[in-house]
Amino acid sequence: MRKVDPCNILLKLNDVEKIYSVAGESVVALKKISLEVSFGEVLAITGPSGSGKSTLLHIMGGLEKPTRGEVKLLGDSISSMSDSNRTRLRRESLGFVYQFHHLLPEFNVLENVLMPLLVAGICSKDEEEKAKELLSKVGLSKRTKHLPSMLSGGERQRVAIARSVVNAPKLVLADEPTGNLDNENANQIFSVLLDQAQENQSALIIVTHDLTIAAGCSKTITLI
Ligand SMILES: Nc1ncnc2c1ncn2[C@@H]1O[C@H](COP(=O)(O)OP(=O)(O)O)[C@@H](O)[C@H]1O
Ligand SMILES: [Mg+2]
Repeated sequence: MRKVDPCNILLKLNDVEKIYSVAGESVVALKKISLEVSFGEVLAITGPSGSGKSTLLHIMGGLEKPTRGEVKLLGDSISSMSDSNRTRLRRESLGFVYQFHHLLPEFNVLENVLMPLLVAGICSKDEEEKAKELLSKVGLSKRTKHLPSMLSGGERQRVAIARSVVNAPKLVLADEPTGNLDNENANQIFSVLLDQAQENQSALIIVTHDLTIAAGCSKTITLI
């Protein structure tokens, strides 16, 4: 169990709800969620398929707007920010591991890992070395020149994990990042994410069905 300083709030959700409207019908994706995540905290989100885990992660990262409630990240309300400020906040302070990777097919593995820095226009030799080191930590040092289409599902997931931490984000949001991995690789990837969180003094929020991973987190919330 990790120790957490409760005064050191990084992310705060206040009565957040998400309701989609589909063909005139309301779909309640997320019911009134309030929570706080501190720097250094590792939070697991569990729950059955369709319980709103991905929706919650997208709202936490400013990728979707809540229907009601407020999301504060690093002290700012992301629900009421301009699109450009929200994009900048995401680029500078967040790392995201999407459930379905979202690697760019025309770029090789190393370029995909460097993408958050390339789009921010801050990619130096040092950054490239860091990306290579991360690829080595996730066991892909021999795949840097491969295109995503040449990789297995688990390898693509590991590239996405390296990409999520390359910019030393304050918060990493990972949506079932070990879903396609065997136990050994899942544990290794989880420890890479934990090490990076510690190194960057950041928080990690991880959607997972893996009880061993949830047990390694400081807190678990279960959606129903
Ligand atoms: N863009 C959308 N439009 C309408 N309904 C959606 C949309 N995205 C998700 N949902 C619905 O919201 C609920 C929660 O989805 P999701 O967050 O993906 O769940 P989980 O990640 O826990 O499997 C599901 O019932 C899903 O069908
Ligand atoms: Mg999901």
